[in-house]
Amino acid sequence: MKSPDRGLIMSLFRSGCVLLLLFGHSLGDPPSFRVDHDNDCFRKDGEEFRYISGSIHYSRIPRVYWKDRLLKMYLAGLNAIQTYVPWNYHEESPGRYTFSGDRDVEHFLQLAKDIGLLVILRPGPYVCAEWDMGGLPAWLLNKKDIVLRSSDPDYIAAVDKWMGKILPMMKPYLYQNGGPIITVQVENEYGSYFKCDYNYMRHLVKLFRSHLGDEVVLFTTDGAAVSYLKCGAMQNLYATVDFGPGGNVTAAFEAQRHAEPHGPLVNSEFYTGWLDHWGSRHSVVSSAIVAKSLNEILATGANVNLYMFIGGTNFGYWNGANSPYAAQPTSYDYDAPLTEAGDLTEKYFAIREVIRMYKNIPEGPIPPTTPKYAYGTVVVKRLQTIADALETLSTSGPVKSSYPQTFIELNQAFGYVLYRTTLPVNCTTPTPLSSPLNGVHDRAYVSVDGAAVGILERNVALTVNVTGKAGSQLDLLVENMGRINYGKDINDFKGLVSNLTLGAATLRDWTMYSLSIDEAVGQGLLSETKPSDAPRPAAPSPPAFYQGSFIIPDGIPDLPQDTFLSLPRWRKGQVWINGFNVGRYWPARGPQLTLFVPASILSTTAPNNVTVLELEEAPCSSGPCRVEFTASPILNATVQSDHEQHTRLFNKHDLL
Ligand SMILES: *[C@@H]1O[C@H](CO)[C@@H](O)[C@H](O)[C@H]1NC(C)=O
Ligand SMILES: *[C@@H]1O[C@H](CO)[C@@H](O)[C@H](O)[C@H]1NC(C)=O
Ligand SMILES: *[C@@H]1O[C@H](CO)[C@@H](O)[C@H](O)[C@H]1NC(C)=O
Ligand SMILES: *[C@@H]1O[C@H](CO)[C@@H](O)[C@H](O)[C@H]1NC(C)=O
Ligand SMILES: *[C@@H]1O[C@H](CO)[C@@H](O)[C@H](O)[C@H]1NC(C)=O
Ligand SMILES: *[C@@H]1O[C@H](CO)[C@@H](O)[C@H](O)[C@H]1NC(C)=O
Repeated sequence: MKSPDRGLIMSLFRSGCVLLLLFGHSLGDPPSFRVDHDNDCFRKDGEEFRYISGSIHYSRIPRVYWKDRLLKMYLAGLNAIQTYVPWNYHEESPGRYTFSGDRDVEHFLQLAKDIGLLVILRPGPYVCAEWDMGGLPAWLLNKKDIVLRSSDPDYIAAVDKWMGKILPMMKPYLYQNGGPIITVQVENEYGSYFKCDYNYMRHLVKLFRSHLGDEVVLFTTDGAAVSYLKCGAMQNLYATVDFGPGGNVTAAFEAQRHAEPHGPLVNSEFYTGWLDHWGSRHSVVSSAIVAKSLNEILATGANVNLYMFIGGTNFGYWNGANSPYAAQPTSYDYDAPLTEAGDLTEKYFAIREVIRMYKNIPEGPIPPTTPKYAYGTVVVKRLQTIADALETLSTSGPVKSSYPQTFIELNQAFGYVLYRTTLPVNCTTPTPLSSPLNGVHDRAYVSVDGAAVGILERNVALTVNVTGKAGSQLDLLVENMGRINYGKDINDFKGLVSNLTLGAATLRDWTMYSLSIDEAVGQGLLSETKPSDAPRPAAPSPPAFYQGSFIIPDGIPDLPQDTFLSLPRWRKGQVWINGFNVGRYWPARGPQLTLFVPASILSTTAPNNVTVLELEEAPCSSGPCRVEFTASPILNATVQSDHEQHTRLFNKHDLL
């Protein structure tokens, strides 16, 4: 009986102290945060309050760097941060939750609070975020015709379970409970979605209230136009808008006033930069225009969240895509005020100067940009091809069916699946192997009897010519390049989602191999090919692994340091360092040429292992294959695009 009491008193004491220290809250009155409609403002502990916030997604930053990034945000003069909670990051298969390591969202919230930052929480269930499927778990597609983001009972059942897990976990972190969370967003830009299902939004309001209580400020975010607010805004949710720099701030807030005649003005996503797509130019937004518009927003007395303040990295397979299909690259640098690697930029200081005109900002010192180290060239040796390594990679064994199945039917969410069949007829002359438009999700590396013959790509390349005898083995390694995260096409099944034809015949009798590549790489299971099997690949070659290692030099202080991996003249693939999936590379298309490698995955005591899965062609015809660790990133290389350039837009609502 005694110890729980003491624990309670201690925790009350602790939270009281922290609040007193960080938030100026006076002991006695319980902490409170609310919308004041009469005075067009927020009210924190009874005082008029305005937030100047920045977006940071913990899922895109290694845990060891959370504190550094948050501190830099605090020292820029921000008093709040905004983060999404990506559902699929925490519930990778139904009922199996992960909240440890880089996914420890509670630790992230605690750090924010300890540093003195309030939190604007955006738990979805849909988050967009240029994140795979907008944060929705791919396993929702187990129900083939599920209507996501609607009252579909199977969708609602999954949402209820997830929210029943995450919201009670968040509740102690609400401001009124002594935590940093001042407001909680419900859904995300729902007014841009085709469904316009008011019952779904009403259900979410009830669900959020039932877990979080009546006091917390719940809000929505939509594009700054009355048309978006029509389906996005909802009674009992405070409506806010989002818009980028360079436009008419007064006009944008008029849209919010249409939904909320009274209450604080809020821009929930003020774009500091913009996203990239493979095959399009790198987005850059000038500091001057960001500073100018930020100044205009703050001058109106509005609340603002800078999206992104630091973008970070889509490690592994987490990037999303837009429609018509265009995948986002590994870097989510966003041209934000802190770079992908957390470096201070001119934009950071320009923003800090604007904020300084409106509030006191902490003196500093600002943590410096972390040093980077060029570990230099690493020779990598060719290992097995995917086809050679099938026994190691396909632990569940193949699945056979007349017609191709999707990744989800094969119980695989991410990565690569090998589809195998045989040529049904003699193809003595080049015979077209074809997919309908968008029949391959997303890219298939085609080989006949182990020789690469070409590539099919979703909406870009629909035919390759094939020659070979009847009965020859036809392999398609199909890459999931990231699920669409925005718009009506988010039900993005992966794999061969249509039948393929060879000449006039529909291909049948498939053998499909789910591939556990990350596990095989992590456990070091891949082996070298016998020299006779490894001709020096000059022409396109079937997808194959390459591996090398490097040692962190002795006698240089403060190593390991962050670095960037460059793969000059490699084509496209995936890289792991010490089993950590650092992401996709595609220098043949750009604009990103280097991958961010955080020091936290490097070892000073053992050789560091670099594993490359090259899908098209390794640049080793005139010597050994090499990769290179450099000290600076290149995200804006000239693009060799064989598909249309996407217009750069300041408003993602115009993407469709
Ligand atoms: C901005 O919009 C407001 C309200 O719609 C309008 O009165 C004003 O003239 C606009 N300013 C400019 C520079 O276009
Ligand atoms: C393919 O051609 C060979 C001769 O080269 C012939 O024996 C065989 O019957 C042909 N197969 C089919 C399926 O047409
Ligand atoms: C396939 O071969 C035919 C006939 O040789 C040729 O006209 C066509 O351009 C080729 N298609 C592709 C995609 O290479
Ligand atoms: C492939 O064709 C068969 C036979 O026409 C059809 O039953 C099946 O649904 C098709 N599969 C796909 C993925 O289109
Ligand atoms: C790299 O691989 C070797 C051989 O499997 C292993 O001994 C070593 O520990 C690995 N290095 C790291 C940092 O994991
Ligand atoms: C890429 O960015 C760097 C650094 O900001 C700049 O010096 C260079 O001119 C840019 N290159 C291209 C092709 O835009």
